[in-house]
Amino acid sequence: MGLVGGEATGASDPQTWHHGIVATWWAEFNDDFRPQEILYFRRYVERDGQPALDVACGTGRLLLPYVRAGLDVDGCDVSADMIEQCRAKAAREGLSPSLSVQAMHELELPRKYRTVFVCGAFGLGSTREQDVEALRRLHDLLEPGGTLLIDIEVPYADAKRWRYWTTAGRRDLPEERPAPRERRLASDGAEYTLRGRAVDLDALEQRITLEMHAERWRNGELDAAEDRRLTINLYFRNELLLLLERAGFADVRIEGDHNDLPPTADDEFLVFVARKR
Ligand SMILES: C[S@@+](CC[C@H](N)C(=O)[O-])C[C@H]1O[C@@H](n2cnc3c(N)ncnc32)[C@H](O)[C@@H]1O
Repeated sequence: MGLVGGEATGASDPQTWHHGIVATWWAEFNDDFRPQEILYFRRYVERDGQPALDVACGTGRLLLPYVRAGLDVDGCDVSADMIEQCRAKAAREGLSPSLSVQAMHELELPRKYRTVFVCGAFGLGSTREQDVEALRRLHDLLEPGGTLLIDIEVPYADAKRWRYWTTAGRRDLPEERPAPRERRLASDGAEYTLRGRAVDLDALEQRITLEMHAERWRNGELDAAEDRRLTINLYFRNELLLLLERAGFADVRIEGDHNDLPPTADDEFLVFVARKR
């Protein structure tokens, strides 16, 4: 089966793999992934941070527990499939959060927010110009004095992939296709499995391209397979700091890996906490 583009409609549409089988995987198996992130962003929303917007909310890993707890949180995501899964999960609990399908760099919403947060999504599928535009729009969506929270995984977090920044290391790209992994049983009775690999790293553009092979099995037989791509713009601390300042944010603070502490070189994730004047 060929490569699925990710339901993108134009050359500049975000290239993300969060569609189809991958979206189902997120809805079924990722609710408990990195629980410290769920707690971390929640504290900001609870402390005078409502209404809040979960940008690239996916299938609601953060949004649904927040809405369940009575917090006023809206969500948006570029993937119609992720939003559909999120809506269905919410409906099963009798919840109906306001959700919309929009790319970050095209965001237009009728409300203003005290908190806007982006977890695990900044730089995904976009160009750097689109990321600059996204920051401008996120700034616009905040009330005066409101807070933007963005996390990034630092480019040096993954020891294996860090070596692809060197010419010699890049000779090992694309990575070998990984061996088939164990299948997981989902609530629809089908089994799902994902296998990812890096195919390219452009050191000049600071962008990595990953590929995902996703399968659905029924009654022991392969029922569907999809191959999708995801590009990620890789940001270091100081570049994103400058971009946030350029977008008009005052008082940008950086914290360590969702831990309320000053960042260190050992943190694999950094969180940028930026206030609108
Ligand atoms: C790693 S998932 C994280 C989802 C959710 N924030 C969470 O932490 O569970 C990344 C999400 O970003 C979305 N996404 C990727 N590129 C995007 C873009 N340019 N604009 C808006 N959403 C995007 C994907 O569809 C996906 O739902």
